[in-house]
Amino acid sequence: MVFKQDSLKLIDQRKLPSEVQYFQADDYREVKFAISDMVVRGAPAIGATAAYGVYLAALEYSTLEKEEFIQEVTRASEELKRARPTAVNLAWAIRKMNELIYQNREKAVKQIVRLLREGAEEIAKEDVKINKKMARHGNRLIPEEAGILTHCNTGALATVGYGTALGVIREAHRSGKDIQVYADETRPRLQGARLTAFELVEEEIPATLIVDSAAATLIRDGKIDLILVGADRVAANGDTANKIGTYNLSALADIHEVPFYVVAPTSTIDFEVENGDEIEIEERAEEEVKGIQEVQIAPEAVNVYNPAFDVSPAENISGIVTEKGIARPPLEESLQKLGGYSKI
Ligand code: MRU
Repeated sequence: MVFKQDSLKLIDQRKLPSEVQYFQADDYREVKFAISDMVVRGAPAIGATAAYGVYLAALEYSTLEKEEFIQEVTRASEELKRARPTAVNLAWAIRKMNELIYQNREKAVKQIVRLLREGAEEIAKEDVKINKKMARHGNRLIPEEAGILTHCNTGALATVGYGTALGVIREAHRSGKDIQVYADETRPRLQGARLTAFELVEEEIPATLIVDSAAATLIRDGKIDLILVGADRVAANGDTANKIGTYNLSALADIHEVPFYVVAPTSTIDFEVENGDEIEIEERAEEEVKGIQEVQIAPEAVNVYNPAFDVSPAENISGIVTEKGIARPPLEESLQKLGGYSKI
């Protein structure tokens, strides 16, 4: 993402890999649309995008008196927060931006607006630093030769840069390890086929694309040494919400005794949520399942169930790689010890 002259330029991920097009957001409403329509997606990426959205709202209302300005920016923030409910990074980034307003409420509106711009830039810059730290921690888990299975897209596209689980994979490849990556296509939105495969090919990392249902056979056949996934929200007890289909992989990992690691920044941990049952799971449009991109594949009249995420129970997770280190089971205790986000 590039933020220049008060406008946010995002690669339109709905169009990848066949077209590399940019989407421009000039106000917070367009930012909200970009998040809900998945022009931009991936927990850290939507967090940073929303932070710029709060700044754009502040800019729009900067001619108002202070009290009214704060009211309007708070209202716009609430709207942005509703764009997607599961990834806590969205709410986290908006909360950080709103804290900035309250901490500086004695200052002039103009100054608050400037601080918000700096706040959004800091969230974006920190994300890249955090990803590189996670990549180094996570690389310790990768054997010299390894078959790695991943789900959805957790790369540069899902973050401000480098990636979470795919960042670890990138790091392992760059450090000279002989890895073979298996990428789930990730129905219905095909983030694995369209985005992860695109990033892997660009980076020349040996990779094979599979349909989601091939994962079990691959694991049973001993081709997978470890599974690496990202997260949209980690509950205080370690239960982890991630792209639909991740739970299947965690269960398979448990059955076949394959290590299953989550790679996520501490901003993805929601200590206010005790366990996975409390995580709101986004349900998306029927059209995503009834069709593949513009092509209809199911009868129009069929009923559809389309949850965008599922929850992998803490007991299936071998560890959670964060920028502060790797939390190991018992996850509730080790996450508590690591603590929440602090600037690096
Ligand atoms: O619906 P999406 O594409 O936003 O879902 C993304 C995921 O589930 C990712 O695995 C998660 O956000 C981690 S991204 C670094």
